Amino acid sequence: MTYPTDLQRRVDDYLAGLGLNDGPGTAGLSEAMRYSLLAGGKRIRPVLALATAEALGRDPDDVLALAAALEMVHTYSLIHDDLPAMDDDDLRRGKPTCHRAFGEDVAILAGDGLFAEALFLVLDRQAGPPANVLAAVRELTAAAGVEGMVGGQYLDITAPAEIGPEDLRRLHALKTGRLIGASVDAVLLLAGADEPARIAYHRFAAELGVLFQIVDDILDVTGDDAALGKPSGSDARHGRRTYVSVLGLERARELAGESHAEARAALAQAPGDTRRLAQIADYILTRQT
Ligand code: IPE
Ligand code: IPE
Ligand code: MG
Ligand code: MG
Ligand code: MG
Repeated sequence: MTYPTDLQRRVDDYLAGLGLNDGPGTAGLSEAMRYSLLAGGKRIRPVLALATAEALGRDPDDVLALAAALEMVHTYSLIHDDLPAMDDDDLRRGKPTCHRAFGEDVAILAGDGLFAEALFLVLDRQAGPPANVLAAVRELTAAAGVEGMVGGQYLDITAPAEIGPEDLRRLHALKTGRLIGASVDAVLLLAGADEPARIAYHRFAAELGVLFQIVDDILDVTGDDAALGKPSGSDARHGRRTYVSVLGLERARELAGESHAEARAALAQAPGDTRRLAQIADYILTRQT
């Protein structure tokens, strides 16, 4: 499946050029932040942001600060997700996890630092009408919060063994879906798109986010560590409630297909040239990493 590697490269270059406020005495902290941020990764969230800008007829470079912030928030979530108190994983993006390389104390701070620096970056550097920039930051922070990623992580670690399909979907929608959704939604807010367009893109983006985590659950069972760059079987080790553990592999695959079809149908209703977003949706369904 064609993944927009040109957009991925633009994101990688921008991230590599970020200063991250290295100052006297804190170089070790910046090093840990950069270690995780620049370790690779698919860059799905910032690539979605750039592809959305493109779909709206904008220059993707104009949303790079916002896109980088999305990736920084995501990387923070990965660092904390891997900690011994959470998923206790040793491998991330093909390298030792941040706490394995720098210690738990520094890894916690590296996550905190990436979160704060992400917000600072958008507020400091993102061009656009101030009201639109504010709306985009509002979306980003909401997606990271209790009705988003952090709330979803809480649901993940506290989910009862007998979780129903609706609660499972909500868990995925918050834990992963919300930040992926925000990668599209925040760009529409930044561009000042009208409400019908925002609603159409939101339907697509929200479904895409759930699809992403269903596939992540499947890959945790079917993938191998080298391709994933992270340990497979992590969910089972921790007794996590996933689409595979609750519904079985076959049903999880069926639901991924349905979710993908739903996302594509929603995208077909959205204005603009959405071809690259459609490619990203296809990639998310068929990815092996
Ligand atoms: C992994 O995210 C964590 C989830 C939210 C499922 P990605 O699969 O996007 O990880 P990277 O960024 O490519 O490393
Ligand atoms: C975590 O989900 C999603 C985040 C918010 C980081 P997982 O725990 O399944 O992510 P991986 O599989 O470790 O990347
Ligand atoms: Mg986890
Ligand atoms: Mg994990
Ligand atoms: Mg996983």
